[in-house]
Formats: sequence, structure tokens, C-alpha cells
Amino acid sequence: MRIALIGSGAREHIIAERLATEDNELFSIMPKKNPAIAMLSKKYWVCDTNNQEAVVDCLKNEDIDVGFASPDATLAAGISDALEKIGILVASPTKAAARIEWDKEFMRSLMTRHKLAGSPKYHLVTDMDEAKSALKELEEVAIKPLGLTGGKGVRVTGDHLHSEQDAITYLNELLRKDGKALIEEKIEGEEFSLQAFCDGSRIATMPPVQDHKRAFEKDLGANTGGMGSYSTGKLLPFIEEKDIEHATKIMQSVVHSMKKDGTPFRGVLYGQFMVCKDGVRLIEFNARFGDPEAMNVLALLQNDLSDIFLSITDEKLETPQFKDACTVVKYIVPEGYPDKAIADSPVNVDIEKIEHNGGKVYFASVYEKDGKVYTTGSRAFATLGVSEQLEEAEMIAEECCKYVTGKIWHRRDIGTKELIEKKVEHIRKIRRNIG
Ligand code: AMP
Ligand code: GLY
Repeated sequence: MRIALIGSGAREHIIAERLATEDNELFSIMPKKNPAIAMLSKKYWVCDTNNQEAVVDCLKNEDIDVGFASPDATLAAGISDALEKIGILVASPTKAAARIEWDKEFMRSLMTRHKLAGSPKYHLVTDMDEAKSALKELEEVAIKPLGLTGGKGVRVTGDHLHSEQDAITYLNELLRKDGKALIEEKIEGEEFSLQAFCDGSRIATMPPVQDHKRAFEKDLGANTGGMGSYSTGKLLPFIEEKDIEHATKIMQSVVHSMKKDGTPFRGVLYGQFMVCKDGVRLIEFNARFGDPEAMNVLALLQNDLSDIFLSITDEKLETPQFKDACTVVKYIVPEGYPDKAIADSPVNVDIEKIEHNGGKVYFASVYEKDGKVYTTGSRAFATLGVSEQLEEAEMIAEECCKYVTGKIWHRRDIGTKELIEKKVEHIRKIRRNIG
């Protein structure tokens, strides 16, 4: 198969690795040259991946069989639709279907309209009076802009908002900028990500993963795109089978509702859930693989990813099988990340040592110039450890970080026994309190 992949992060690096098999040829389009993806590709282009014309120009004479647009902004720019228009089968959602991610108002109102359970209480506000009355009713809140913010736009009571005045100041900022904001009830619990392949009707879930959004160790600091993640390949240590069943049901019913509404979802649907005192709540949907979560699940996928993509386009979803193993991913970020990340700083990666150590490294927001690799203002590399034991997977991922050098840092605590035990205890406490 001749497969086109749009995107250039660590998530796309592992997607590229899984697509570039002996039977396939990979054609990549990237906003900046990711040297690792370029190496896996038969041909690659560097252009504005959110520009339909530019992407179509690259691919129109390449006789592509299947296309996959990966990042959120690219999906919101309608790149899947543009590929479809030139006769390519597409395994990523159309702009209309990806709206589930790029418009939080659409997502919440879809769930309300179809009477789907699982949302926190919420108010969509358009002025300060509405905002103040929502704050009064909900007390502890999560305040969100409606559009895409790379995971960085949400502020939560107690974490980022320390008084009513903080909430009002942030709401003022959002109302001035967008004219609207979402105020949700703050859910107390632990988060997990559930990703699923969808063919418009059916879904096939992947192992649940826990990402770590906060910038600093002990889950402190600003929200980021995600600093690292772990999975046991089955349940997470703090969730039960019934939590996964509940989350799967929410995802399946959203996919049914989207089909009914005439915007079927074909691609990868990502549900971000919070397990709380009385079940699970849906925090948000993404219309794509998670980043870093893609690395946790694709490392274990036993099927050929291109076959799954083709089965999505045929609406005959192939059931994915996953190896029974634990995975830990650690993101290496530039010094100063997330607020004042040092860009254009050279980094050295010793891939041989990393692989000798039993791990992998995926290239994220870096670029190559004159044979050297440089940081941008975003996450730079991800290391991956896979093992039957979570502790060992963590040790491998951590050890691999030693072989990436430059003005960079990473969270050492992700996937460690100590941090995971804290999460298990957190849920135990929340659930004990309701007796
Ligand atoms: P989002 O961009 O919607 O993924 O939100 C970013 C982060 O904000 C999430 O990973 C949560 O940690 C937090 N968050 C979002 N919504 C809520 C909520 N309703 N209650 C508590 N925390 C939330
Ligand atoms: N890891 C969170 C995301 O991909 O949005």
C-alpha cells in the first residue's frame, strides 16, 4: 500500500514506524522536517500541514491508497476532507466529525441532545452575569476555552484558580477573546485515556493509559500537552473493569449519535475520562491518537496498522490485538518548558545506546538542520520502555533519557511505584468517603 501520513511529532513517528513495513510505502507531509519520520518515508514534503491546497499539491500525483491526518489542528483544517476529494481513502475523521474535539460546545451539546450520560455539570456562558451565576452554582470549577489550545487552556479551582476573583479574571479574558467560555463542575478523581479505532459505527478500544498533564513532578504546575504516560496493557492500577465498561459505553453511544446526525466518526477516537466517587466522567474527546498515549498502545499492537486503517475506510473494522505488556513513556522537553522553552538549541541523541538498553526513542518537535537536531518550543523526544513488569518498563524509559543530551529535562517520577501508589490511594480515599 502507498500510505500518506500528515504530521511530525513523536506520535506520528510511532505511527510512521508501524506503517512503514515491507509491504508499504510511506509518504509523509510535515510542518518541520522530523528526521526520524523522513528516514522512514519513501518521499516526504515540508509544508503547512494545515493548508488543504499545499497538502493536496504534494499528494495529487502519488497514487496514494490510504491517508491519515494525525494532529488536531490538521483535522480541524479539513485535511481529511481534502484528501477524500482527490480520491484517497481516508482513515482519519472529516472536519465535521473532528468537531467533537475542536469545539467543546458541540461536544457537550451533542451529549445533552442525545441524552448521553457521563458529562460533568456545565454551563456555556456568553457574559459575566451568566458566568457569575454558574460560578455560584458549581462552586469548584474547570474553566475552558471552546477551541483547541494544545491542552493548555483549562484552569481548575484549587490548582490554578485560588479565589473567585481568579476565576472572574480568567473568564473576563476568555469572554473578551472568544465571546464564550465553558464552566464545568470540577471533578475530583484520577484521569485515564481510552483510545478506540472507529469505522463510523463500531469501536474497538485499545488498552487504557494514564497521561501526566502537569509540567512538574508530583503533578504540579501548568497543564501541558502531556509529560509522559504508562499503561499495563490491561487495567490501570486505580481502575476496575466496570470503569472501562462505563467509558466504552459512553464512547460507543457518542459514535452512534454522530452516525445518526449524519457525521459518522471514522478514525481514532480518544476519550479522556476521570474516574471519580461514583463512576467515570467524560472530560473531553479528541479526534486522534493521544500524544504520548499513541506510543503506549502502538508499541503493543500486533496487527498491521495499515490493515486497520483500510478496515476503517471500508467500514469493516478489524479487531486489534495487543501484546500483554506494560509500557512507560517519558517526554524530554527543552529547558524552560512549558512557559519559556529554549528553542533552536542543539540536542544529541544516542539511538544505538538507547536500543542497546532495550528502549526506544521517538522524535517529537525537533528539526534537522545541516545534520544536527534542534529543539523547538515544544516537547522534544519521548523515550519508551516496554516490559512485562511496570517497574522495569519505567526503569528502561528513565535509563534511555540519559542518552539524550542538551538543554533539556524530563519528569523522573512518571510510571514510578511511588507516584502510582499515590493515585491508587487517592481513588481509594474518594470512594471510601461515599461509603
Ligand atoms: P482538557 O484540555 O479538557 O483535557 O483539560 C486539561 C486538564 O484540565 C485535564 O487533563 C484535567 O486535569 C483538567 N480538567 C478538565 N476538565 C476538568 C473537570 N471538569 N474537572 C476537573 N479537572 C478538569
Ligand atoms: N495526551 C493528551 C493529548 O494528546 O491530548
